[in-house]
Amino acid sequence: MPTIVFLSPKGGVGKTTSAMILANQLSQGAPVTVIDADPNRPFQSWERGGNAPDNLKIIADADEENIIDKIEEAAAATPFVIVDLEGTAAKIVVLAVSQADLVIIPTQGSQLDAEQAGRALKVIHQQEKMSRSKVDYGVLLTRTNPAIRTRTTSHIMEGLGNNAISVFDTQLHEREAYRAMFSFRQTLDGLRGEDVANLDKAIANANAFTMEVVDRLRASKQARAGEAA
Ligand SMILES: Nc1ncnc2c1ncn2[C@@H]1O[C@H](COP(=O)(O)OP(=O)(O)OP(=O)(O)O)[C@@H](O)[C@H]1O
Ligand SMILES: [Mg+2]
Repeated sequence: MPTIVFLSPKGGVGKTTSAMILANQLSQGAPVTVIDADPNRPFQSWERGGNAPDNLKIIADADEENIIDKIEEAAAATPFVIVDLEGTAAKIVVLAVSQADLVIIPTQGSQLDAEQAGRALKVIHQQEKMSRSKVDYGVLLTRTNPAIRTRTTSHIMEGLGNNAISVFDTQLHEREAYRAMFSFRQTLDGLRGEDVANLDKAIANANAFTMEVVDRLRASKQARAGEAA
């Protein structure tokens, strides 16, 4: 049912990687559909490696003409839908956001990327005005250093917090394993510890992120049920 959309008008901030991590971990417990709307079709190439779990279905023919129907169909078919978008503010992006239960805005720990996240927030606020309802979202810091919290990251976190911007508690760290999923075309859990450094830590980080996503979805569902009552 819930649709999770990865959004950022900036390219290369970690949308596809974060979407892949979430899709992998969620699909261990429930069927997931990924709508691969990144023009490079990274999920489709990954699936060609032959290691995608049965629970993970990939739709790679979405465009701005059909994206709403594709999301609706997927949401009727599987408990989770994940949409990976291109790094622009194209019409398809706005359409996908209109269907989202949760929007995740990946941001790297540099000031420039945080400014780009501000552009993503504008898309969300516009959608809120159009639909006259709240859009649940969270900024996700990606590629952070697991060993040290840099001053830039702390500064960005502070700025986001001061502006009452919702930020995920979990950060996705810079991990070789997250790149290896694509190079080996393998699931995170299917990678081998001898091939990839710190695989256990990468899996623990992926699970923490996935649990936070599920908690947020549950909380917003309860809030909506409360409003309706
Ligand atoms: N947590 C991470 N750890 C290690 N590498 C990462 C992580 N997140 C992203 N990367 C790397 O950063 C690069 C960009 O990531 P990714 O392709 O996920 O970004 P994107 O936002 O989907 O880009 P685009 O807008 O081009 O679709 C890739 O080389 C990817 O391997
Ligand atoms: Mg991408």
